[in-house]
Amino acid sequence: MSFRTTLDKEVAAGLNEQIKHEASAAVIYFSLASWASVRGLTGMADWFRAEAQGELAHTSQVVDYLNDRDCQARFATIEAPAYDWANPVEAFEMIRSQEHTLPRRFNHLIGMAVKYNDQGARSFVHQFAPQQIHDTAEADDLHDRLQLVGGDGHGLILVDQELGRKAAAGA
Ligand SMILES: [Fe+2]
Ligand SMILES: [Fe+2]
Repeated sequence: MSFRTTLDKEVAAGLNEQIKHEASAAVIYFSLASWASVRGLTGMADWFRAEAQGELAHTSQVVDYLNDRDCQARFATIEAPAYDWANPVEAFEMIRSQEHTLPRRFNHLIGMAVKYNDQGARSFVHQFAPQQIHDTAEADDLHDRLQLVGGDGHGLILVDQELGRKAAAGA
């Protein structure tokens, strides 16, 4: 018999759904990293790879939380990620729309936790919110900067270098 406080089924299902989302975000970022890497955009590739690692860390955090609450994580099929983008602006367009879905997901999960008066699950999900705000704003900024650069190779190299520095700094 376990003395741990088991999650409500609906909350557990929501967290399992989040695992799928985080894992598929990781695979998308790895795909982007590979795309950038073979195009000489090495800084961008590093940045995408760092993002992929971040999404894997989120996946692991949710799995650990489910386990701590005496629930086994369930893994679902992840769709094959896109692998071809016309240019970096298009790639960041996709990232931006993906990151923008997260606040709604978190709100939904928090709403479910509140429905079952599960303050622990509520604060677990809540801790992701500030980072998500940062990620969403960062994706917006990078998209806009790349759009400003347009087809200019020199400008693109500058943004690429900036992304490489960000990745190295762990930002
Ligand atoms: Fe994430
Ligand atoms: Fe993310």
